Amino acid sequence: MLEGKRVVLGVAGGIAAYKAIDVCRRLVDAGAHVVPVLTEGALHFVGRTTFDALGSERAWTSLWDEQRPIPHTHLGQTADLVIVAPATARVLGLYATGISDDLLTNILLATRAPVLVCPAMHTEMWEHAAVQDNLRVLRGRGVHVVEPEVGRLAGGDVGAGRLADPATIVEAATSLLLASASAPDLTGLRMIVTAGGTREPIDPVRFIGNRSSGKQGHAVAEEAAARGAKVTLVTTVRLPVSARIDAVRVDTAAEMEHAVLSRAESADVVVMAAAVADFRPVQAAPSKLKKAGGPPEVRLEPTVDILAELGGRRRPGQVLVGFAAETDDLRVHAAEKLQRKGIDLIVGNDISEPGVGFEHDTNAVVILGADGSSVEVPLADKRAIARAILDAISNARSSS
Ligand code: CTP
Repeated sequence: MLEGKRVVLGVAGGIAAYKAIDVCRRLVDAGAHVVPVLTEGALHFVGRTTFDALGSERAWTSLWDEQRPIPHTHLGQTADLVIVAPATARVLGLYATGISDDLLTNILLATRAPVLVCPAMHTEMWEHAAVQDNLRVLRGRGVHVVEPEVGRLAGGDVGAGRLADPATIVEAATSLLLASASAPDLTGLRMIVTAGGTREPIDPVRFIGNRSSGKQGHAVAEEAAARGAKVTLVTTVRLPVSARIDAVRVDTAAEMEHAVLSRAESADVVVMAAAVADFRPVQAAPSKLKKAGGPPEVRLEPTVDILAELGGRRRPGQVLVGFAAETDDLRVHAAEKLQRKGIDLIVGNDISEPGVGFEHDTNAVVILGADGSSVEVPLADKRAIARAILDAISNARSSS
């Protein structure tokens, strides 16, 4: 099934390194070309001979191999997937902060391939805020994670931090390898993606906002950039953004309107994932409103509907995508918005369902097309939803 796929299997220094032997064997059995890369720490736990024998080529253990110079760029560039199993706190920390101090961390920075990290460490280390922060940063950059399990750890302790089962790791790796093979390439596509909720000031301290976390918009931007699109992300949130994305930070609906409309002319695709305020205070108070003044009367005025504006001035071939967060009659409301705003695709989600929409890491959507098409995407992480949205965009472009 994995014939022709090149996988770099990074093994870091933890007791779970012995399980990487099984991961290696299973991937080779499935037809992948597996390149083992062992850190110095890994060599304290497992012998390189085992990986020499089971991998598809001799194991790499150093950046300074005299026979094979600068291996990291070659190994990183030619990989279809990089797996790190086990991923130790050290490797996660170096990767999250962009420090390359051995062959494996060099490869992680040199590759454009999807990366799957499989952390394993003692419970106290796994739960440490620094480790969890690093993982959050990596996830935000599109790194895939197979979470550790609860079980017996080194020294007889029991807790969270045991490396996931090799079968689970290989399953995740397989779906990544097959997904990236079937995903349409977006090289050269110019995209604008918006994300997050706008904040409309009432006074210097308070604002009218909404619950949008920006995670879905950021996932669309990251996935599109990973597939080769040239992405501008107009966002209200401070989530980490890959260097290959041009990020524009805004706060209000008016700032978002300006950022999007001034760039829209040259965009092939605009995805309005942001939750833009429909109304804003006519005037923000110049100084903080005091409680002693009694309940303030805040007069509101409509904001510009950016998507409808884009629909009105769109150039031929440009694809416009909107979102509809609804609590009832999802399909009816989404279809009505699709028509009213004059756009090509609308991504509707029912935010009253568990695990769906604002603030969650998961989502479940229906993607409706102006051509009458309809795709249901069941509950999945927001990166997987982003893949489905980009597939729908690719289809809309090829049929327009
Ligand atoms: N949108 C926009 N500009 C606005 C408001 C919304 O571009 N001022 C975009 C959103 O980014 C989203 C889509 O329009 O892609 C749906 O927005 P929504 O607020 O749900 O649509 P409305 O027409 O305001 O409908 P509702 O009455 O449900 O609020």
